[in-house]
Amino acid sequence: MPFLTDMNRLPWCSTSARGQRLLPVCALLICALWAAGIRSQQPDASLLAITHGPYLQLPTSTSVTIVWHTNRPCVSRVEYWTSDSSHSAARAELARPSTGVMTAVSSEHGLIDNDRTSHVIRLTGLTAGTTYEYRVVSREFGGYEKQHIVKWGGTVSGDILSFTTLDEKKASYWFAVVSDIHENAKRLDAVLAPLDWKRTDFVVFDGDMVNDFMNLDQPFTGFVDVSVARFGRAIPFVYVRGNHDVRGRFARRLTDYFPTRDGHAYYSFDHGPVHFVVLDSGEDKVDAHEYYNGLVAFEPYRREQAKWLADDLRIAAARRARYRVVLSHIPPYDGTSRTGTAEEAFAIRQVRECWERPANAGGVDLWLSGHTHRYAHLAPAAGRNRYHLVIGAPDTLTRVDVSREKLTVTLTRETGQTLDVITVRAR
Ligand SMILES: [Fe+2]
Repeated sequence: MPFLTDMNRLPWCSTSARGQRLLPVCALLICALWAAGIRSQQPDASLLAITHGPYLQLPTSTSVTIVWHTNRPCVSRVEYWTSDSSHSAARAELARPSTGVMTAVSSEHGLIDNDRTSHVIRLTGLTAGTTYEYRVVSREFGGYEKQHIVKWGGTVSGDILSFTTLDEKKASYWFAVVSDIHENAKRLDAVLAPLDWKRTDFVVFDGDMVNDFMNLDQPFTGFVDVSVARFGRAIPFVYVRGNHDVRGRFARRLTDYFPTRDGHAYYSFDHGPVHFVVLDSGEDKVDAHEYYNGLVAFEPYRREQAKWLADDLRIAAARRARYRVVLSHIPPYDGTSRTGTAEEAFAIRQVRECWERPANAGGVDLWLSGHTHRYAHLAPAAGRNRYHLVIGAPDTLTRVDVSREKLTVTLTRETGQTLDVITVRAR
């Protein structure tokens, strides 16, 4: 309280007789100001809020990751339960321990996260093809009063929502792909508008959703909030990193918004008759380019993924799937007859040189990319790609109808115009 030591300097706090009469009033005033100051430093529970999300990420048949953001650091949990009748009481019993309600938290080396405003919680041990209800809960963490005494604030809970896990046995479904939105939320909303969400099991954001990560609100205003409003609380999106996602001051914090499953941004998952492979194509120019200030190492990273891709396409799930689909932001071919600069062509060439051979050997049927901002379809061709390559543009929606008999890829413009329909049959 440094202002108390300066009390005598205040004209209305002199030590004259009149001043002495005023002293109690003055002291009260100062006490009130001091108390108000203390209150303003304490957490105001009424202001604690979930600011963005929740949204679902990294779906598999047995797990999903739920992400949301609060305006203050919190300790968070997800409460979830199956939505079948045997747990119908769970909804009513959330406030107290219930046999039907499970809880998941985020911890590292045994310590539960307590100082984060982005909350990333992975639910594991789920059952394939099962609908779960869930709600997110965050309790404000105001730090330590002393040693083991924590200053807790208020608690905020989300709505009761639901999601359904993926299922290798599912016979048919849709998934949708958009890319290169570059934070144009209005365009994303228009592109997604025609989708039938009852038939869409997940959405792929195929890179460059962020347009160089320079302030922490960009993902929210650019596409996350629109996605949450349209589908993201109940239907997961698969985040494939593009070259603009890995640029900017906060590029290294991208995982606070779009986490990895096991520390790698390249991974695979299965749904119905399809084995999906997500590849992380990185920047678009040579690592030594002056634009990167010596701060990137994507060339060895692509080679590392080439080995992993070859191995992944040999695993049992990949071999038994009727289709193998690769998702990468940068495509292995430009897809047009234009001659770009050598700088622009570099990453496309390295993607092709590193990943096409294992993709061909592993029986990849369809490869979905973005990056060039021009729609293209390359049918399988002797001596090069044995798969269909489909490159989406910023204003296109790629919808893939999956069945055991075929994959039907339909591309539409945001205007509603159908650009192309491509059929991929099982080999
Ligand atoms: Fe790109």
